[in-house]
Amino acid sequence: MTVCSAPGKVYLFGEHAVVYGEPAVPAAIERRATVSAEPRADDHVRVEATDLSLDGFTVEYTGGTGDRPDVDVPTPLVEAAMGYVDAAVRQARAAADRPDAGFDITIESEIPLGAGLGSSAAVVVAGIDAATRALGEPIDRRELADRAYRAEFEVQDGQASRADTFCSTMGGAVRVEGDDCEPIDAPNLPFVVGFDGGAGDTGELVAGVRALKEEYRFAADTVRSIGDVVREGERLLADAVPGADPQRELLEDLGELMDFNHGLLSALGVSARSLDTMVWAARDAGAHGAKLTGAGGGGCVVALDPTDETETALSFTQGCEDAFRAELATEGVRVEGA
Ligand code: MEV
Repeated sequence: MTVCSAPGKVYLFGEHAVVYGEPAVPAAIERRATVSAEPRADDHVRVEATDLSLDGFTVEYTGGTGDRPDVDVPTPLVEAAMGYVDAAVRQARAAADRPDAGFDITIESEIPLGAGLGSSAAVVVAGIDAATRALGEPIDRRELADRAYRAEFEVQDGQASRADTFCSTMGGAVRVEGDDCEPIDAPNLPFVVGFDGGAGDTGELVAGVRALKEEYRFAADTVRSIGDVVREGERLLADAVPGADPQRELLEDLGELMDFNHGLLSALGVSARSLDTMVWAARDAGAHGAKLTGAGGGGCVVALDPTDETETALSFTQGCEDAFRAELATEGVRVEGA
């Protein structure tokens, strides 16, 4: 059996616009999905998910997406989770050139599903790594990131950028612009996350932005403006000392850009009342900046605050189910055991 884990992420800047070729800067955080894979003698895939922020479930199926698992948890969430596992298994089989490989898979995740923290990317990255290693055919990290992206792209009907999967594979902060993906140096940013307990449908939210962008030139301009915010943010990060605690002035400047980024995402219709409430609670508590992270619609916000004030304020904010400090995960995907 091979066990691998991969981190979730927050977007410092650039979600949604990255789908249309603008740059984005996500950063991996120390909340991980852990996947174990054990090859089977037949071509079946048995999946046990003990914590995907939904009730645990176990299903056995023959690996085709047509199979509907008979389990007592909400169908859309199970189908979503199974879709990602299926796609990861297909990529692992292709990478190892073992089209009939079967697996017993277990998934444990500290990352809530569909909440903007990259749960699906982390499961897919850790899953492909564990399954290829279990078959004795490990792949390098660039290929792993590429295969994980293709898995997400397939499940999300072509509505995916490389940002989530590349960040989860490499760890740290990364820059993604189209197919161009690179790790970047970043200071030790004091991220605080607020979670409303909900989830957004990434495919639907991306489709909504696409429709607005096609209908209105000012919506297309808004997407381009997000790109401008990201480019400005990159300039600030380039001058910072990697790994060091950032100066207050840098946090203020980055925070201002995060606030701007949130406003532009709101204009594109991907915020939600609960996300706006948490963003304002963070700002009122003295955060340097706050924005939604990920696809939006519900889920998480990320704020910058080196003090405890934002986390405390969020934990008392109505509609915020969980508030926590998120450390930058400098390590991406890793082997936890064999
Ligand atoms: C979702 O985590 C981020 C989006 O930009 C979609 C993507 O980049 O694949 C909304």
